[in-house]
Amino acid sequence: MGILDGRVAIVTGAGRGIGASVAKRFAGEGASVVVADLGVALDGTEPNAGPAEEVAREITASGGKAIANSGDVGDHEAAEALVRSAVGAYGKLDVVVNVAGILRDRMIFNMAAEDWDAVVRVHLRGTFNICKHAAAYWRELRDPEAHHRIINFTSVSGLHGAPGQPNYAAAKLGIVGLTYSCANALGRYGVTANAISPLAFTRMSESIPDERRRAGSEADERSPDNVVPAVVYIASEASDWLNGQVVATGGYRIGLYNRPQVINQIVSRGPFDVGSVGALMEQAFKPLVGGEGRPGSR
Ligand SMILES: NC(=O)c1ccc[n+]([C@@H]2O[C@H](COP(=O)([O-])OP(=O)(O)OC[C@H]3O[C@@H](n4cnc5c(N)ncnc54)[C@H](O)[C@@H]3O)[C@@H](O)[C@H]2O)c1
Repeated sequence: MGILDGRVAIVTGAGRGIGASVAKRFAGEGASVVVADLGVALDGTEPNAGPAEEVAREITASGGKAIANSGDVGDHEAAEALVRSAVGAYGKLDVVVNVAGILRDRMIFNMAAEDWDAVVRVHLRGTFNICKHAAAYWRELRDPEAHHRIINFTSVSGLHGAPGQPNYAAAKLGIVGLTYSCANALGRYGVTANAISPLAFTRMSESIPDERRRAGSEADERSPDNVVPAVVYIASEASDWLNGQVVATGGYRIGLYNRPQVINQIVSRGPFDVGSVGALMEQAFKPLVGGEGRPGSR
């Protein structure tokens, strides 16, 4: 008996890296899995059906249930076909895990519009596409007692603002907003929505020089397999209490992010005066900003 026995899941980006680890473990815990992956290079080019088929084959060879899908999550119709293929193959859909992603890193002043669009298309629009079609299916079922799950992958790059990844950071924080919106919208249909901020050695993290240096000594701890336990739990029927949250996981740690909130405010009886508002803001906010201001501004 596994903790996902009888559940049906779509895992995007499941041909490699973290997605492959999630798909394999889901199947090992009893889920039927649609292994969805366009099989592209890190920059989103050169699609190849091989990675999705290989992971699906590995799962079925070890006695699990899986089918492969090599559609593009950024394509609205392909995403709809992906959701339909899960229902067609296994009779229902319980969980979507949006892991698919690409990178095209540049500093903001060097970024071509097409590199912006490509990254936003796969991460943000791709996550929207799957969430939308899954939500439309769950809405038809109208079952508030269901245990449907949206699990979206965000990144510390967006949550903290990686300087060389403006496209990726924007898309990944956009995914958090989308997740909050789904969490607030879909409870009546038995759906929870949460985001995962993972940390693992994959081809994606290898593109970061600091990560490459650490890879040797910390490779075991930072295996993509170590991202999976928290994802499995959230995908299970037991996690109804968790909704609209960002969970950080990797290595031997699992953390919970706070939700952005106003931490101090100044209030006036009428419009603020341009001449005096700066002093008020400095007094109230500067001690709270700490080291996050522009270098040399303190
Ligand atoms: N590795 C990390 O430390 C880390 C850190 C933060 C966030 N993330 C996020 O975790 C997720 C997985 O990252 P990873 O490190 O396993 O990367 P990876 O490159 O190993 O895997 C990503 C997979 O997504 C697939 N993909 C790309 N575009 C697609 C599309 N349009 N349609 C379908 N599939 C597509 C690729 O073919 C690839 O197999 C990504 O969303 C990434 O942004 C990873």
